[in-house]
Amino acid sequence: MNNTEYKEAIEKLNLWSKHYYVLDDPITTDEVYDRLYHEVVDYEEKNPSEVLENSPTQRVGDLISDGFKKEPHLSRMWSLEDVFDREGLEKWLIKTYKLDRNITFYCEPKYDGASLNLIYENGVLVKGITRGDGTVGELITQNVKTINSIPLTIEYKEIIEIRGEVVIFKDEFEKINEQRLANGEALFANPRNAAAGSLRQLDSSITASRNLVFLPYGVGEDELPHKLMHKKMEFIYGLGFRRPPERAVCKDIEEIESIYKQMVHDRDSYSMMLDGMVIKVDEISSQIDMGYTVKVPRFAVAYKFPAVEKITTVKEIVLQVGRTGAITPVAIVEPTDIDGVVVERATLHNFDEIERKDIRLGDKVIILRSGDVIPKIIKVLTRERDGSEKKFPKPTHCPICSSELLQEEVLLKCQNLECDARVVNSIMYFASKPCLNIDGLGVKIVEALFVSGLVKSVVDLFDLTLEKLLELEGFKEKKSQNLLNSLENAKGSDYWRFINSLGIEHIGEVASKTLAESFGFEFVNATKEQIIECDGIGEEMAESVLEFVRVNRETIERLQSILQPKEPIKREEAAENPFKAKTVVLTGTMSESRGAIKEMLEALGAKVSGSVSKKTDFLIYGEDAGSKYDKAVKLGVQTLSESEMRELV
Ligand code: IVH
Repeated sequence: MNNTEYKEAIEKLNLWSKHYYVLDDPITTDEVYDRLYHEVVDYEEKNPSEVLENSPTQRVGDLISDGFKKEPHLSRMWSLEDVFDREGLEKWLIKTYKLDRNITFYCEPKYDGASLNLIYENGVLVKGITRGDGTVGELITQNVKTINSIPLTIEYKEIIEIRGEVVIFKDEFEKINEQRLANGEALFANPRNAAAGSLRQLDSSITASRNLVFLPYGVGEDELPHKLMHKKMEFIYGLGFRRPPERAVCKDIEEIESIYKQMVHDRDSYSMMLDGMVIKVDEISSQIDMGYTVKVPRFAVAYKFPAVEKITTVKEIVLQVGRTGAITPVAIVEPTDIDGVVVERATLHNFDEIERKDIRLGDKVIILRSGDVIPKIIKVLTRERDGSEKKFPKPTHCPICSSELLQEEVLLKCQNLECDARVVNSIMYFASKPCLNIDGLGVKIVEALFVSGLVKSVVDLFDLTLEKLLELEGFKEKKSQNLLNSLENAKGSDYWRFINSLGIEHIGEVASKTLAESFGFEFVNATKEQIIECDGIGEEMAESVLEFVRVNRETIERLQSILQPKEPIKREEAAENPFKAKTVVLTGTMSESRGAIKEMLEALGAKVSGSVSKKTDFLIYGEDAGSKYDKAVKLGVQTLSESEMRELV
């Protein structure tokens, strides 16, 4: 690599990174990125004086040894006045219209995270400062540089402060907490705390590992010429920052109410947590005229969403026994409406969590529920205790089968394979969507079948008959026949579903697919070495498969002969042909349905994928091919028309 190539490599890496982290539209694969990144690292090691400040290597930093330094903002960071309903909004509007009648409003989400001020000088990110008291914050530049949605350099040379919120996406938050749970560490209460905590790490590699995201919402000190707030923000997004998922310019209260209702409606579908909508006067000259009170701007207001954190009381703690025997404590709380849903239960994860948070029966607690965040207790209000609260002792025996419980790392587990709860949950799992997807086997029905003695294991499901079902309470002809039909439909399913439905510990959907594709029906005879060779399967998973097969070989064979799953084409078994073991993407209208062509290619040993990446070997196009075709050309992926593909076949 020479210096010109080095510069080109930096441009390329930054473009790829922007597509991934800012535009949510990846245009390459991790593998290709990593390869070029490492070439850049090599070059920089040999030529330390030539390292560019926007090189992605500059995002990883050292340990900060003696805490963060205090740092003043160039201009003050404000907070916002809150309103909670239409009446509050009307009052705010009347007050604001008195200052200026000729105004419109820019509305955007209020992100629930930690605020951050970025200072760019000469187009280079020079400082990242937490909000602090609004005047002085903490200098956390090194950590800020690890956030991939923050550009290290921008195409704007004047001094500018760019303000925004650092958030953790909801799915990432659940992942971090799952990991912390497995490691026996204290959980983060909510995504906001997780974001704030991650930002203030003295080891920036921890910050880097948390996948923080920056969403800009304004500027502090700036020399920008724009007369309207929304134009100014459009310019900022254009410098390489993320756009809000939804925003609007409104001229009156009706338009504001309408976008507010839309955002409340959409909030669960967003990746990040929102706690309201911010309304700002769009005309910057009016903003300046209106100015600030001692605490807040007069030209902006936060229109809060219904709260997702509420106070309630722990009435009871019940124990759930999962199909693996793991005991999960669940709090039964005083029913509480949170954003339109009545919450009655909250997961307590495990007994370490109960002890760490010191949750007691009768405690007043704060619970959080938001979209896909599982309802959880985030804080105990210990000051509210009156002495009547009772500790909940860790159980020693299974609440269902009374056998002794064993602590396995952080999990407390029932060891009895025949424990009723384990069996019922295994049947439920067997029938669930990512397994055999059998309709009509909800918890009530499975329990009824189990209690009646008709179904003691999944194999028994297939001995059910109309006569037997009709004898059960609540089973009329239609319901019974529907169930029998669903069971019949489970036959001939994909083989990976069959493997997944067995419920082998550590083997989920992805690993089941890998096993099915690699071994087909022979998966029961695969050796440990062969299994470990599969992509994404490690030693623990391989051992789990072997142990499961050793104990359950007969049941597997019996189920397989009943269910007759489809044997997948093993990739390496297809006859030699140009598509064998290749990744192929289809686009446009073809002479046959795409499903039929997909099947044909899969029979040749190809993997048919939905989106184009650098890993794609062929893009096969029909008529009216669109963006996938363009992307393939851009990435240098070989393209074939349908007839060219047929010739090769
Ligand atoms: S504007 C001059 N816009 O909310 C206006 N703030 O409660 C000052 N926040 O400290 C703030 N999303 O950290 C603004 N779209 C948004 C926001 C937002 C989140 C945070 C920000 C601020 C706090 C005030």
